Amino acid sequence: MRENCPVNAEQKTAAVLSDKSNDSAHSFLSAGSLYLRFILIMKKFTITALIFLGVLVCISFTDQGLRHQYARPASEWPAPWVDEGVSWSELGALPPVPVDLNNDSVRQVVELGKTLFFDPRLSSSGKISCATCHDPALSWTDAKPRSVGHEGAIGNRNAPTVQNSWLYSKLFWDGRSRNLQDQAFAPIVSGVEMNSEMHDVVMKLRRSKTYRELFKKAFGSDFINPHVMTEAIAVFEKSIRSADSRFDRFVKGDYKALSNSELRGLHLFRTKARCINCHNSPLFSDNKFHYNGVSSTGPDNDKGYYTVTHNDNDLHKFRTPSLRDVMYTGPWMHNGKEKDLKALIELYHNDSPAPGGGRRQLGLTGKEKRDLLAFLGAISAPPLPFVKPVLPE
Ligand code: HEC
Ligand code: HEC
Repeated sequence: MRENCPVNAEQKTAAVLSDKSNDSAHSFLSAGSLYLRFILIMKKFTITALIFLGVLVCISFTDQGLRHQYARPASEWPAPWVDEGVSWSELGALPPVPVDLNNDSVRQVVELGKTLFFDPRLSSSGKISCATCHDPALSWTDAKPRSVGHEGAIGNRNAPTVQNSWLYSKLFWDGRSRNLQDQAFAPIVSGVEMNSEMHDVVMKLRRSKTYRELFKKAFGSDFINPHVMTEAIAVFEKSIRSADSRFDRFVKGDYKALSNSELRGLHLFRTKARCINCHNSPLFSDNKFHYNGVSSTGPDNDKGYYTVTHNDNDLHKFRTPSLRDVMYTGPWMHNGKEKDLKALIELYHNDSPAPGGGRRQLGLTGKEKRDLLAFLGAISAPPLPFVKPVLPE
């Protein structure tokens, strides 16, 4: 056994040695594979980072490119995708109001008109004023699908905002009124709105000393008749304008006013989404009548423009509404059926009207729909603070 010892010892030493060399070989190998693994991970990471950076650079170059194309007067913007034969005008900043508020005598008429607009005396119940359905705190709408008037009667249509209404060439969803003065008669005598007789309203106003004074200040005579009354209301309405939106600031040269998403939305609005075919000019309306189909789902037999023209081609057509402040003027469409702008964009995306009468699909991606919605936000300014008039006794 002892003789074996050295052998054993040698073997052991060899074994130990070979173990050691195995160990060092192993540790050398594992360091190598760690290193390799590290290189591989780094490679993967670098490739991913490069792709990510590339995408970022691409996006920011595209956004930069778009900003470059739009950071200039609107007349130099990229050409819009407008169907052949459609007459259109470019989007733009909202013009100033068409009444001179620095002129004292104009201001007196505006003050009188404002008082009348807020006065429920104009209704037979003494409870409803124009402002009941056109409330300044709600961007001059009533925020209801369809208006509620005399004794809870529900009208057929959604109350539009009266802001910027001086830019429409015809008023009401069906264009049945030529101008604001003519228009103001309608709600006063409408059975489902204020349900008054014009004669009674005039008599009520004549009985008020304060009103006689207000009319005298405004028109130089205290003789109150329907004509001067509606004229005052119309002049007041001409003083109601949306506040400047981020889009207005952008158009006026503040080229940082729109975010990248809003800017992409502007471009889509004018091109791929084709909204500009109908929603154009600084009002975002072409002042024309179209069947947009989007709002006519459901049991709604409102004949729209047809009731005015009696032309079969005009059946279910409605005036293109302005989209200014659209975020604050819902629910939307002539019947107030649309309660969600995201869903509304989806409807347009699936089945969009062409101004000539056809239909098309827009093929928008999810991101493009979000950009379009962001742009609708950029043309919306929240309601301005408004001081209501003190009503005469
Ligand atoms: C009961 C609610 C109600 C009252 C009260 C009311 N309106 Fe309206 N207003 C509406 C509705 C609804 C419409 C849309 C009707 C349509 O198109 O047929 C409208 C439309 C208008 C329009 C047209 C806007 C456009 O875009 O064409 C103007 C302007 C207007 N109203 C002003 C007034 C004035 C002025 C008064 C008070 C004399 C008044 N309204 C009272 C509900 C009301
Ligand atoms: C063919 C003309 C046309 C085109 C194109 C068009 N619209 Fe309209 N739009 C209309 C008409 C007309 C209405 C009112 C329809 C109704 O009430 O029945 C309307 C209503 C709307 C409303 C509701 C506004 C309100 O105050 O009730 C929104 C929001 C709107 N459109 C956004 C868009 C967007 C976004 C696009 C592009 C994707 C677009 N529209 C394309 C004609 C058009």
